[in-house]
Amino acid sequence: MLMNTAQSKPAENGHDHIVIKPSVLYVGTPVVLISSLNQDGTTNISPMSSAWALFDRIVLGLTCTSKGGENALRERQLVLNFPSPDLWRKIEAIAPTTGRNPVPSHKKKIGYRFESDKFDVGDFTPQAADLVRPLRIAECPIQIEAEVMASHGPGGEWPQERPEAFRIIEVKAARVHAHRGIVVPGTNHIDTSQWSPLLYVFRHYFGVGPDLGRTFKAEV
Ligand SMILES: Cc1cc2nc3c(=O)[nH]c(=O)nc-3n(C[C@H](O)[C@H](O)[C@H](O)COP(=O)(O)O)c2cc1C
Repeated sequence: MLMNTAQSKPAENGHDHIVIKPSVLYVGTPVVLISSLNQDGTTNISPMSSAWALFDRIVLGLTCTSKGGENALRERQLVLNFPSPDLWRKIEAIAPTTGRNPVPSHKKKIGYRFESDKFDVGDFTPQAADLVRPLRIAECPIQIEAEVMASHGPGGEWPQERPEAFRIIEVKAARVHAHRGIVVPGTNHIDTSQWSPLLYVFRHYFGVGPDLGRTFKAEV
């Protein structure tokens, strides 16, 4: 809560903020390429960004009509591939595609097409995982093999005019792979001077700026 104290004064004229109704609320989260197993044993790739981590769990928001969500709930295994900013054009090459055939009508209307091999479309290199069946994406510096632990739908009433609902899928990290170039030598720490995520900010791609400082808990 904002307090009217010397430390946090309210804005002078009270007009610094205006009320808006943005079409999306994507203030900025990392892009994740979700590898999931299709029924025929091939790997699908789903770009997504509604993801966050707490301890060894990562929570993913995936729409119900996405192939990645369907595969995750059936196979209970995924790889979360974290791309660096230089990969954004490859990601955008697979963005208007789905592994679902036929293409859901609301996606068809806005130009999505079916693609069975997104490694080929995005020019990504498949790499076997150790503990799960979906393939990793070699170009992504961080890859997390994960198991699905729980899932649930949106709370409350879902508005009828929305074409699709979503599932919140909670996964447990089983193994983390990091490119040796982003690891502090001899440690389990990511070198933040070498790694930076690709961010999805109000439907635009961004890299991150310079390091501003570290929190008191940072180990390196
Ligand atoms: C950068 C980016 C971020 C996205 N974030 C999400 C997301 O968080 N959740 C989601 O369900 N779809 C997200 N999408 C849309 C999916 O990529 C889209 O539904 C796609 O068709 C999924 O592929 P699939 O049907 O083969 O799983 C995002 C797309 C892009 C390009």
